[in-house]
Amino acid sequence: MNKVRVLSVPGDGIGPEVTVQAVAVLRHVCERAGVSLEIDEAPFGGASIDLFGVPVTEETLEKAKAADAVLLGAVGGPKWDHLPSEQRAEKGLLNLRAALEVYANLRPAKLFPALESACPLKPERARGMDFVVVRELIGGIYFGQPRGVVQVEGATHGVTKGFNTASYTDDEVRRIGKAAFEVARTRKKKLMSVDKANVLEVSALWRKVMTELGASYPDVQLSHMYVDNAAMQLILNPRQFDVIVTSNLFGDILSDEAGALTGSIGMLPSASLGDRHALYEPVHGSAPDIAGLGKANPLAAILSVAMLVHHTLKRPEWAQKIEAAVDRVLASGLRTADIASADAGGAQRIVTTSQMGAAVLEQLSS
Ligand code: IPM
Ligand code: MG
Repeated sequence: MNKVRVLSVPGDGIGPEVTVQAVAVLRHVCERAGVSLEIDEAPFGGASIDLFGVPVTEETLEKAKAADAVLLGAVGGPKWDHLPSEQRAEKGLLNLRAALEVYANLRPAKLFPALESACPLKPERARGMDFVVVRELIGGIYFGQPRGVVQVEGATHGVTKGFNTASYTDDEVRRIGKAAFEVARTRKKKLMSVDKANVLEVSALWRKVMTELGASYPDVQLSHMYVDNAAMQLILNPRQFDVIVTSNLFGDILSDEAGALTGSIGMLPSASLGDRHALYEPVHGSAPDIAGLGKANPLAAILSVAMLVHHTLKRPEWAQKIEAAVDRVLASGLRTADIASADAGGAQRIVTTSQMGAAVLEQLSS
């Protein structure tokens, strides 16, 4: 790709400050790689609620669909938490994902050697950890109907019930399965499908479809694991995993766990891919408690740009250059507060969000 149109939606909290750093890296790479970059920006999440009363406008959704890629910061914050679920900032993100039909959410969890001491596991357990969570993103219990909060009829005293529906069609499982098998093919060819097939019908169907699909990928070693065991195995032996494929809710939970294992959720990037559109976002939230203080870690956003460069620009060599620059910056001892460790001593230097971004740019230019 020689020309790319990107819509930036920085959102709320630390979203804008990490996005500034990520966009600077994107501009630099496009310039150096000879790609002409057209970048537009739109209010999103709480910022959009404040301006337009909704977390994402139709106009922004149209702009997102027209772009080659959307780069997102983070959404939400206490200011909007009192709103009913349909109007909350998070709903904007869910609507955007659904509108772009980005069903495959790739969350690579890699422990950079320099961050071993920031990982909560003993170094010998986590050293070399490198896996990807492929999370189904636009189905399952997040979107299932019916859902709601109702008064239970016939109850002698007022009983209220909240309910959601976890459902997947075989087609939905097949398309996320294919995406995951394809990712596994580019890696160590090991795929772990995570479900709760011992209890849930929706999971039993998931497992059946994954198993059938496995026949078309004889080069990939497919296994299955229950989600409770997977949560435990990630702590006991994260190195056993190469690619994990799982449903929307299980993927949401396991990817936060994966984030913590990399030293901080501030390190985890993501790419959400569909058949037509792409959305790139750091996995971390809007962290309102540190917003505007220059404490946020921009590396997840910068590594999300690396994923954009890889998957949308199709310039894997430049994606690798960004990752290598991050690696060198960390090896040189620079740390935002979230990845600083108490026992690393004088070898590390605490820096601000913009200093971290500038250090990555400097490494990229050298
Ligand atoms: C994530 C987040 C979102 C999700 C929230 C903010 C709606 O936790 O991207 O993991 O649950 O998908
Ligand atoms: Mg989450």
